[in-house]
Amino acid sequence: MLSVTLPRVALRSAAPARQWASAAQSVRYASTLKDAVAQVIPEKQEQLKALKAKHNNSSLGEVKLENLLGGMRGLKCMLWEGSVLDSERGIAFHGRSIPDCEKELPTAKDLGLKGKEMLPESMLWLLLTGKVPSVDEVRGLSAELAEKGKLPNYVEKIIDSFPKTLHPMTQFSAAVAALNHDSAFSAAYNKGIKKSEYWSPTYDDVITLIAKIPAIAARIYYNVFGKGDGKQAIDPSNDLIGNYANMIGYGDHEGMTDYLRLYIAIHGDHEGGNVSAHTLHLVGSALSDPFLSYSAGLAGLAGPLHGLANQEVLGFCLGLQKAVGENASDEKVKEHLWSTLNSGRVVPGYGHAVLRSTDPRFLALSRFCDTRPELQKDSLVQLVQQLARVAPGVLTEHGKTKNPNPNVDSASGCVLYSYGMTEFKYYTVVFGISRALALTQLVWDRAYGMGIERPKSFSVDALQKMLK
Ligand SMILES: CC(C)(COP(=O)(O)OP(=O)(O)OC[C@H]1O[C@@H](n2cnc3c(N)ncnc32)[C@H](O)[C@@H]1OP(=O)(O)O)[C@@H](O)C(=O)NCCC(=O)NCCS
Repeated sequence: MLSVTLPRVALRSAAPARQWASAAQSVRYASTLKDAVAQVIPEKQEQLKALKAKHNNSSLGEVKLENLLGGMRGLKCMLWEGSVLDSERGIAFHGRSIPDCEKELPTAKDLGLKGKEMLPESMLWLLLTGKVPSVDEVRGLSAELAEKGKLPNYVEKIIDSFPKTLHPMTQFSAAVAALNHDSAFSAAYNKGIKKSEYWSPTYDDVITLIAKIPAIAARIYYNVFGKGDGKQAIDPSNDLIGNYANMIGYGDHEGMTDYLRLYIAIHGDHEGGNVSAHTLHLVGSALSDPFLSYSAGLAGLAGPLHGLANQEVLGFCLGLQKAVGENASDEKVKEHLWSTLNSGRVVPGYGHAVLRSTDPRFLALSRFCDTRPELQKDSLVQLVQQLARVAPGVLTEHGKTKNPNPNVDSASGCVLYSYGMTEFKYYTVVFGISRALALTQLVWDRAYGMGIERPKSFSVDALQKMLK
């Protein structure tokens, strides 16, 4: 294959999206993202250096026994560059809220594709640089991801050899780990690369991994559920999620494709302390490559207290419909909520460990539903919206939860279901595709020269002695 790296100027003045398709068959595209990252790193390194020089011994708060016993809740002990979660305002990506991102980040339409939602590629650019990319920058990144999206044959064979009964998340984690066969970081490390340059092959691995994730997820979907065409063909003129939607058999479904773009863009990064993000950062701190780090993060995401919650909401909503019928009155829905609470169960999709107001990710998905006539008519989506009106009052009266408002999971799985993806077991894989955006932190970890994580632990006896 002819392999030519286009100069940046050529990329900026590139032809419209459709013309890229034929050109990309024979020309290798290099996105300008790596240059943009290289440009911002020195400035951020200087900022951190100055902070360290002035404040290395400053306290960020005390550690109480309740923090240690309560899952390190609230402890200020991680650096996370891409996003910060405010308990009232929700997530902000380099200071930008979800509504800001919806206004500013390039969308499918901007690239000449069907659909209106922001592209995960745009979010990837923002997370890595702190800057809003231009349409051409996103187009170049999309083209690079498409070019790198094909799976090596040995990974295809590994996925094909899994029993259908093996959970899709186990398959996902194992297939991602196997990609480390070709890790640029591992190869560079083994050759003795300087510490100051670690970020560069880490970046290359992160982009390779994000590019191949749709094909991995689609092959698992095909093998386990027989949906999609099983070929994982990539159209170089399509965006990352447009290609994924094609591979899983939703290529002609504009609503689903656009929903996946929005879902994946806003679920990607939710600061560093959640289980999947923290795990990939922890494993990466041992200088394990991004493939191994992400594989470990996926294992954490597979837990029912983390990535599996959207599946539980769906079960709850379908159960509610079965119990009280479709289009039930608010009174009937309230009765069902009270019977759930009185039997000692939680209302899934409500409450949050950090947030104390309605999750802006829920509001974004809800806004999406409002703009799609096919979803407005769907009784499950109507129920999600009815619950958002009714449940906060019931939970407030119940008086236990610190946040009676909906979180993102109260809508995310139900919309997938309404669009025809009824395979519950697969939902966490979709979340996993999204959470790959958190891998951007590994690039920052290397750029900042972050050390291996090693918190101090104590036995109960040792704690007792300390606290006497
Ligand atoms: C997300 C969640 C795990 C956060 O837990 P948390 O930080 O302990 O939440 P709180 O501090 O508000 O919990 C205080 C009490 O309210 C209860 N509570 C919290 N959310 C509740 C809900 N949705 N329904 C009923 N009770 C709830 C807790 O179980 C706890 O009860 P306890 O004192 O008897 O143990 C919790 O809100 C929950 O279980 N929500 C439902 C599941 C869900 O939607 N998960 C996805 C989160 S993105």
